[in-house]
Amino acid sequence: MIVGKIFYKGEFIEAGIEVEDGRIKKIGKLVEGKRVKGVILPAGIDVHVHLRDFAEKRKETIETGTLSALHGGVCLVVDQPNTKPPVDNVKTYFQRMEKAKKSAYVDYSLNLALTNSNHEKLGDIIRKISEKYFIPAVGEIFIQHDSEDLQIDYETLRKVYGRFEGVVFTVHAEDPAYVAKGTPNFVFRRREAEVLAVEKLVEIGNFHFCHISTRDSAKEIMNSNSTYEVTPHHMLLSVNDYGRLGKLVNVNPPLREKEDVDWLLRNFHRVDVLASDHAPHTLEDKELGAPGFPGVETMYPLFVNMASKGYISFKSLVERVASNPARIFGFKGYGEIKTGNFANFAVFDLKNVKEVKGEELHSKCGWTPFEGFEAIFPEKVYLRGEEVLESCLKAGNILKNRA
Ligand code: DOR
Ligand code: ZN
Repeated sequence: MIVGKIFYKGEFIEAGIEVEDGRIKKIGKLVEGKRVKGVILPAGIDVHVHLRDFAEKRKETIETGTLSALHGGVCLVVDQPNTKPPVDNVKTYFQRMEKAKKSAYVDYSLNLALTNSNHEKLGDIIRKISEKYFIPAVGEIFIQHDSEDLQIDYETLRKVYGRFEGVVFTVHAEDPAYVAKGTPNFVFRRREAEVLAVEKLVEIGNFHFCHISTRDSAKEIMNSNSTYEVTPHHMLLSVNDYGRLGKLVNVNPPLREKEDVDWLLRNFHRVDVLASDHAPHTLEDKELGAPGFPGVETMYPLFVNMASKGYISFKSLVERVASNPARIFGFKGYGEIKTGNFANFAVFDLKNVKEVKGEELHSKCGWTPFEGFEAIFPEKVYLRGEEVLESCLKAGNILKNRA
């Protein structure tokens, strides 16, 4: 089907890929096909996006959010349940998956919320959903949230965790004691909020930690059996960007001092997952202090540029953006270019370095915290063997039998 410079088993080889029924049938020097320019990498997986929709369509929809993912070389997203209304029950879960089936441009999957109010029914909810769909994780569990409906306390989490071994729990680890509600960024001891929550949580069990932003909590997690993700903004932006970002600056967890940012980037090869925490808000909402940055479209391109410049290795990048997320969340057939896997690739021409421009991105929110940054966007994206970037074919959701 295609021939070129393929990232295969940790290195680049010149070869062709044969595809049958959406899966890779053969990879080899003698396989013929259309030659593509640039490097052929596994398409990315973003395990942390907030695609809004429902009552927040003005910020983003599943349609616009997944179109943005597609243009960023991401073929599978994991949407988070803090929607309005939240995805904390079977009905809403099914409703959202049906919506995704009609409108998603890339493969779509959805985490289930775990809160103080639904924890007693969790077993029943998981059982009903998993008859039809693959649930990647229970999360994003909020140890602290402005809305009581989305929050869970440590003791309840401890009880629930013990009952569901084998289920991935993803946690937004910020301790309520150190986060003053309603003042997202400029509060007392906000850094300790993350460090303390991580310390308490690794005592409870093994979690996947969302958007870790301090070196202390990263080290704590690396000494445990938990895993963690870091966002591009916590590795590329810092408190030094406050002036440039102005009213756009709010995000949870907040941007950190250079010491943390530089440590995380230097230790990129020790992070488990690169995830965007794509959290689109309109400019009007940002003016009012809404926390969150869009990022699903810029994540892979910013880091392909960094790999191309030699700041990180392609091996390290591909592991964090594709193979590790597939392994941690159990997406079989995703994350690597290998025989039997889905033919999901992103092709990047390393000579085509561009400046990120918010107005050219596909998210409905229309802005980016990375305005003016260098990035290499994909020239082509293949989903189960189809070139989908040019044609923008719809892809649909993850049914039980796909993951
Ligand atoms: O800044 C954030 N915004 N962090 C989160 O964890 C949630 C997100 C949102 O949903 O807006
Ligand atoms: Zn989030």
